[in-house]
Amino acid sequence: MPGRFVTVEGIEGVGKSTNLAFIADRLRGLGHDVVITREPGGTPLAEAIRAVLLDAAPGDMPPITELLLMFAARAAHLAQLIQPALDAGRWVLCDRFTDATFAYQGGGRGLDPAAIAALEQLVQQELRPDLTFLLDATPEATAARRSDRGTNDRFEQEDLEFFRRVRQVYLARADAEPQRFRIVDASRELQQVQRDLADIIATDFKKSI
Ligand code: TMP
Repeated sequence: MPGRFVTVEGIEGVGKSTNLAFIADRLRGLGHDVVITREPGGTPLAEAIRAVLLDAAPGDMPPITELLLMFAARAAHLAQLIQPALDAGRWVLCDRFTDATFAYQGGGRGLDPAAIAALEQLVQQELRPDLTFLLDATPEATAARRSDRGTNDRFEQEDLEFFRRVRQVYLARADAEPQRFRIVDASRELQQVQRDLADIIATDFKKSI
């Protein structure tokens, strides 16, 4: 039995890391063998590409370079970690995946979604997430969390308008694929957010998705 591929998405400051750990705990509680990973990154090569992506000076990387590096990292991550884990029957829980590319490089940077879809096909062939949690909150609601982080990477330094466009693309994609996406309102107290996550996991992962 191949494993399942579950992704977690959302703009910065929605509480992705805390909730990712919570989701992993719940899935393990159901007896699944879960590997947690992230994008860009997840393998030594892809982490090296991540450093290039995040550490460049603002304005120093053309959007198409950024797009190609995201997919270059993804190709390594898929070949070296995600696909072998799924083939071995493990569940892969990934902090961001290609929905982030549509949201950030498409929505945020304004690149053509058809070009992104072509790269998606080239790099992933038929592989798509089985289920995607979208932790949703407005950029205004998450602004304090972003600025609390101290050193901000190139993306965290973007303005509210950038994150509004990113969020709009996430919501549009969730709307277009309701069978895959679960939108969770992340602007509420953590306890409420996690109650929803637990309900979704109990419902969706009991019947096999
Ligand atoms: P992280 O801080 O959530 O780990 O993500 C790193 C940054 O990379 C985050 O600001 C979103 C961005 N990103 C993209 O722009 N496109 C992508 O395809 C992915 C996976 C992440």
